[in-house]
Amino acid sequence: MTTVATSFIHNLNFLHVLYIVAFALFIYGMTGLTGPRTAVRGNRIAAVGMAIAIVATLLLPGEREWLLIVIGIVIGTLVGVPAARKVRMTAMPQMVALFNGVGGGAVFLIAWAEFRRTGGYAHLATYVVVFSLFAAIVGSISFWGSNIAFGKLQELIPGRPITLGKSQQLVNLLLLAGAVLLAGLVAGGSHSEAEFIGMLVLAAILGNAVVLPIGGADMPVVISMLNAFTGLSAAATGVALNNPALIVAGMIVGASGTILTNLMAVAMNRSIPAIVAGGFGGTGVVEGASGAGAYATTVRSVSAADVAIQLAYARLVIVVPGYGMAVAQAQHAVAELAKALQKRGVEVRYAVHPVAGRMPGHMNVLLAEADVPYDQLKDMDDINPEFSRADVALVIGANDVTNPAAKTNPASPIYGMPILDVENAHQVVVIKRSMNPGFAGIENELYFRPNTAMLFGDAKGAVSDITGELSDI
Ligand code: TAP
Repeated sequence: MTTVATSFIHNLNFLHVLYIVAFALFIYGMTGLTGPRTAVRGNRIAAVGMAIAIVATLLLPGEREWLLIVIGIVIGTLVGVPAARKVRMTAMPQMVALFNGVGGGAVFLIAWAEFRRTGGYAHLATYVVVFSLFAAIVGSISFWGSNIAFGKLQELIPGRPITLGKSQQLVNLLLLAGAVLLAGLVAGGSHSEAEFIGMLVLAAILGNAVVLPIGGADMPVVISMLNAFTGLSAAATGVALNNPALIVAGMIVGASGTILTNLMAVAMNRSIPAIVAGGFGGTGVVEGASGAGAYATTVRSVSAADVAIQLAYARLVIVVPGYGMAVAQAQHAVAELAKALQKRGVEVRYAVHPVAGRMPGHMNVLLAEADVPYDQLKDMDDINPEFSRADVALVIGANDVTNPAAKTNPASPIYGMPILDVENAHQVVVIKRSMNPGFAGIENELYFRPNTAMLFGDAKGAVSDITGELSDI
């Protein structure tokens, strides 16, 4: 009886059925990621799918080093679970970079292990060798590139572009050509481990050389691109190892990473080749910034009590959250203020720019966490026509995504980036701590406009102060 059960769970047809169940769960889970309400459930469903795929892979016939596998799972769990629980939303891009790097690293190590196991890819079908070498090169680029991206975002290395100047592109091309040449020799049957390692080293230098020249501001886009690379290299490993789970999961990551990279680049008005060429997004004020232009007067500073009065007598208030709201963890205070206003009959809407914050969906996730009803969150295209109807646009820790220079100043580095038309509201109130620029490092002419008032302070404290003042009105 036990033998029948054992042979059943190791049966390839049964394991393929498990894989199909896992893929169905991946895809069903992903449909949940389209909205904050269903995202957590979607994530869990996809995680169950991944657990099934792992179990099915471990049941595949063949010898296993069970002790090593268990040690690996224990180390991964001990590092991954607390890190994922503790990470702050603002540090999520770094975290994604690190986890993505681990994926790329695993892929090139598997290709290397297979190289050794098979005596330098001896007697393997050509397509298996080609896919393995592709996985090794791309995995190595992704591992090293992701680590540099992590280092830049964590400020372990300078965020400004570090480049060899004009010769950078040529050097990168030579590195790639060298890696492909060595891969060609290995595929041609050299079986030389020195050539294989040389190829990995050139790919590693290339990973560093591609990401170091890219400025901090473009880093989330780069991480998403490296994510797509890791997915493709994992899919290539799946082809080489004849493992459908790796092919499907790798292609899902590759495809979604590519789509996300493109969406982010479009929302920031940056082309992907321009991002890879580097140069934008270092620290400090960017040359050619708009400045205050025709509106260069002094800024008007107001108190929380003044803002409370403005809001109390408004009909429509549009809240514009940004990165500053996220760092200040002000989402709950903002939700409290909105509730107090709604109790007075004020209509409140949230204007969510696609790249507000530091990662896609940043604002939606934070506001959902504070139980803001999803129907009050409006996308840029839906809310922009509403600003002219709004009595007050309340900008909380957002900067670049409200900068009118994107529409009016061709010399501005963010020219062409679609932005929220906050300046069309009757009154604009901006909450931030100082006149310092935002992520793009440029001044915002909005702050100098006659219908704009600045409430200087930390977002959480300032919003709570307004709510406090509101109760006295
Ligand atoms: P930013 O332009 O970065 O502006 C954030 C503002 O928040 C800063 O000017 C800062 O001014 C203020 N701030 C910081 N800490 C604060 C605090 N504790 N309390 C109150 N205010 C605080 O943010 P944004 O408008 O959300 O724009 C996002 C930027 O990130 C864009 O340039 C976008 O291209 C870039 N980006 C986004 C993404 C994604 S996918 N979301 C990816 C890559 C890049 P003070 O220092 O004066 O307080």
